[in-house]
Amino acid sequence: MAATPALRTIPQIVPFLTADESASVLQTLEDGWITEGPRSAAFVEALKQTIQVPYGVLAPNGTLALALGLMALGIGPGDEVIIPDITFIGSANAVLMVGATPVLVDVEPDTFQIDPTQLEHCLTYKTRAIMPVHLYGTACDMDPILALARRHGLLVIEDAAQGIGVCYKGKPVGGLGDVGCFSFFADKTITTGEGGFVACRDEHTYRQLLLLRNQGRLNRGSFVHPAIGYNFRMTDMQAAVGLAQIKKLDWIIQRKQELWATYVSGLQDVRQVRILGAASHSTHVPFRCVLMAQEATQLQAHLEQAGVQIRSFFYPLHRQPCFGVSASEISPVRSFGNNAYPVGDSGFSQGLCLPIYPTLTDDDVHYIVDLIVAFYS
Ligand SMILES: Cc1ncc(COP(=O)(O)O)c(C=O)c1O
Repeated sequence: MAATPALRTIPQIVPFLTADESASVLQTLEDGWITEGPRSAAFVEALKQTIQVPYGVLAPNGTLALALGLMALGIGPGDEVIIPDITFIGSANAVLMVGATPVLVDVEPDTFQIDPTQLEHCLTYKTRAIMPVHLYGTACDMDPILALARRHGLLVIEDAAQGIGVCYKGKPVGGLGDVGCFSFFADKTITTGEGGFVACRDEHTYRQLLLLRNQGRLNRGSFVHPAIGYNFRMTDMQAAVGLAQIKKLDWIIQRKQELWATYVSGLQDVRQVRILGAASHSTHVPFRCVLMAQEATQLQAHLEQAGVQIRSFFYPLHRQPCFGVSASEISPVRSFGNNAYPVGDSGFSQGLCLPIYPTLTDDDVHYIVDLIVAFYS
């Protein structure tokens, strides 16, 4: 009798940590400088080079990187910031944190990135900024967004939390708008556990970032504070991890692309699924392998029963319970009603995220592909 193949356990994400990260952290601890110091400075330099920007500062995480970027640009109470309906809720929460109002716009159907053709109707006299979010490993279409921003005197905050290594028309995302914000949470292409970065190209913005992130002063150790600021610093232990990670970025990207190609070739004949790829203007650094699938809920259960951890697509912001409108409360976000986001809604009902991380094996991908093929057979 043929043996039943053993079930596997394939998590949604496994951070790619090796002896390099351990040695780097250990050396930091032995050197004894654990707050922002030489490793943080070196990590900032490496990030600036990767994103091709002249300036940048570290932040404690991606959400606070966005909040810091918004604050540095002077966005606050009374201002509106246009954001896509499909994104991680941190994008919206950062806008709320600085006292501004997120205005929700639908995404476009091929890549589920913010739809530049729908921005114009969101504009009011309160609109101060647009926050394109480079989602799932591809870039938003930045040219029309930047052109519209220029026409209307708006600022552009790129949410590149998931986007390190992604290029739009040959240029790294995060370096195209007024500020670009990154996350180094454990599921990101490179990680520091928690961590973030704000990139910018303008010296005045950089000075504002420096002041705001370090209690309103430019020099450490001084108790004279020329401006009001906060504490948005990181630690050198995290930067030590980041430095080891960024050295492997090219390899991680290549491995993710190989795994993605294996999914694509394995599923090419399954007409019930569509794998989201990169837009034609963008390179692709798959953050997840995102599948638009018929009977998505049942497929998810089928995969999870076989040990594969699946995540849903992001839940549309206009449906988030925390942003709901009831008789007694006014929503903190501005949306255009439940019928105004057909693409975002379809993404949530059909979208599933398959695992894609450097230590996932080709064999794991074949296992997942076989399960999907069997589900629809
Ligand atoms: C698109 C997007 N924006 C913002 C964030 C927030 O980053 P963090 O979790 O580091 O605060 C994330 C994190 O997953 C994200 O995916």
